Amino acid sequence: MIDIISVKQEFPILNTNVRDEKLCYLDNGASAQKPRVVIDAITKAYELEYSNVHRGLHYLSNLATEKFEAVRGKVKEFLSARSSDEIIFTSGATEGLNLIAYSWAENNLVKGDKVILSLAEHHSNIVPWHLLRERIGIELKWIEPRADGSLLAEDIIDAMDDETKVIAITHMSNVLGSIVDVKKICEEALSKGIISVIDGSQAIVHLPVNVQDIGCDFYVFTGHKLYGPSGSGALYARRERFEEMKPFMGGGSMINHVGTQSVSYNIPPYKFEAGTPAIVSIIGLGAAIDFVEMIGRKHIYEYENKLVEYTKARFLDLDFLALQGTSETKGGIFSFTIFENKLHPHDIATIVDQKGVAVRAGHHCAQPLLDHLGLSATCRASLAMYNTENDIDRLIDALKFCMKLVS
Ligand SMILES: Cc1ncc(COP(=O)(O)O)c(C=O)c1O
Repeated sequence: MIDIISVKQEFPILNTNVRDEKLCYLDNGASAQKPRVVIDAITKAYELEYSNVHRGLHYLSNLATEKFEAVRGKVKEFLSARSSDEIIFTSGATEGLNLIAYSWAENNLVKGDKVILSLAEHHSNIVPWHLLRERIGIELKWIEPRADGSLLAEDIIDAMDDETKVIAITHMSNVLGSIVDVKKICEEALSKGIISVIDGSQAIVHLPVNVQDIGCDFYVFTGHKLYGPSGSGALYARRERFEEMKPFMGGGSMINHVGTQSVSYNIPPYKFEAGTPAIVSIIGLGAAIDFVEMIGRKHIYEYENKLVEYTKARFLDLDFLALQGTSETKGGIFSFTIFENKLHPHDIATIVDQKGVAVRAGHHCAQPLLDHLGLSATCRASLAMYNTENDIDRLIDALKFCMKLVS
């Protein structure tokens, strides 16, 4: 059993230096670092267990298929889905959300139907709906966050009308850090026959997630933010939706029979997984899930909550800094600017990098939100289970150093 206080040691890169300073990694919202067990699982898969999956009869193909399919079971348990069939492997949240828009929405929506989105969605939960708007003429209805950055279930529920067919909402904003009461939203959506799509890309890293309890139709996440490899991810699709979904892409594995004039398809989830999947990345995702489960999601949640409170207090103490999103439900994502724009967010990120502190600056793939806030960019520090109060202190010291340069 690894204690969370010493968990940092499990991540080799966190014991390295950048620019002669010990790495202080606070860019986890973009992508998290990988524990040794994930790196080892990837190496082992290539060294000892590698072959293509599903179609072979030889030993290695069966072994690789077993390892790969076992991850479906792990994801099912991790999300508390009813069955492993409801887990579709994807390359990440972006593919999952596009799959929903093409496979389900394009076949079930017509011109004039409304899709409710919040202004705080990541582009990957916006652009697939814009593409659908361009193809079939759906309407997009936008819900604004409140002044403190919270996205209230009530506001989303109030916007549901007779034309609303889908709500597509983030579980946790990647800019404001606000956590959304998706259970309340999905309950109301279900009672009105509205399909619910939840983007769990950020939430899955910080909160226990139970898709049956939430009651959503679709839930997506991406593996690389969850301490797993890039190129891995999963989409939960409630079994009742299967009949309404057409294949997303065509190719190997997703078919039952292909003739010259006809084609029939494999059963879900394979029907939605065309071509050779990201075999080793998915095996690595399985190792990441095992790692998170070994630490314990409740344990991670409690530890991170304390760190969020500490970070909030330290940020609110800085009189030169404007924090975006201060709601009660805020998780470990802190976007900020410096008052009077004395330093551009890109300059802040570049200067703190000189002190070994990695943060992100830009629009964070959330331009509608940044427009709403009247900003073109923010600086963002985002936490993971391996961050400590010392990391926050280093960030604060580096920010004070930035201010010294301009005062
Ligand atoms: C809330 C949210 N949704 C979706 C995504 C897209 O994830 P990916 O690029 O891994 O598909 C991200 C990534 O930053 C995100 O933060």
